Amino acid sequence: RQHIAVFTSGGDSPGMNAALYGIAKKAEQSGIRLSGIRKGYEGLVDGDLVLLDAHKLQKMVHRGGTFLKTARSKRFLTLEGRQRALRNLQKNDIDALIAIGGDGTFKGLLVFSEICDIPFIGIPGTIDNDLAGTDFTLGFDSAVNTAIENIDKIRDTAESHNRVFIVEVMGRDSGYIAIHSALGTGADAILIPESGQDFVQLLKRAANYNREDAFIVIVSEGDELGAEIAASKIKELKPDVDLRITKLGHVQRGGNPSAADRMLGIRLGVASVKSILSEKKNVMVGVLNNELSLTPFEQVVKQHQVNNELYELVNIFSK
Ligand code: F6P
Repeated sequence: RQHIAVFTSGGDSPGMNAALYGIAKKAEQSGIRLSGIRKGYEGLVDGDLVLLDAHKLQKMVHRGGTFLKTARSKRFLTLEGRQRALRNLQKNDIDALIAIGGDGTFKGLLVFSEICDIPFIGIPGTIDNDLAGTDFTLGFDSAVNTAIENIDKIRDTAESHNRVFIVEVMGRDSGYIAIHSALGTGADAILIPESGQDFVQLLKRAANYNREDAFIVIVSEGDELGAEIAASKIKELKPDVDLRITKLGHVQRGGNPSAADRMLGIRLGVASVKSILSEKKNVMVGVLNNELSLTPFEQVVKQHQVNNELYELVNIFSK
């Protein structure tokens, strides 16, 4: 292999820069040229390439966001867009492609593989932790740490006023951030999209909370009830309830990556180049039981589920 290209796509996540550094270092050591494609699939369609060097990326390991920038591309969804992308790869003699992103990124690669047969390797980069084939996605640990730090602060004010707080966290259709941040802060209730929880019971508990204490509910943004409806239902049950809603929002995507995400980024970055060197194709590198693993894209994007142990924890701590 002479020339590899890499891009980051979809929502940025802390640890993406560490992964880029891992890729650059391994490529350099293997005598491979490395280009970065800017702004995800958008840059692929436009041929927006820059040469990457490990030294520059070395200074980005501790930074959140993505050095290469990212986007959610509509043009790549069209055949014409993908054909332009293919021509750009051919024009630049790129013979392998590494993509760092989530579910949508890998779906994009699957469709692209119908017209482009160079090897594609994926790295799971999303705060949502919603991909099969890896225990943790890049950025999840950092996002949970940010959520926890903020929920701890909310607790201080909630307890001072004896208030009910509904805190909405990110995760799209995945309740992982909600579960981890709720358990890590001793929250009173957890609402996640994956569970068929007994809302009525849970909301009754919130409405009848001890007036000498706080009551903190963590709601995943994808939950069918959602923060506002949950709040209005609690108010129906207890009209004089002292309740506030806080949506943590995009702070969860930013900030310096945690130690775990820096290490995961470096490991997966190096592993992605090694996979190309050993002729692997259309697989995502991940870590399962603390060992590197390869999973075909088709399996990565299959329906996401919360593992049984976590699900049981939700039932124990949110009853
Ligand atoms: O996939 C990561 C994520 O942060 C989700 O948790 C969230 O639903 C979405 O991206 C937000 O996307 P955007 O930044 O485009 O509003």
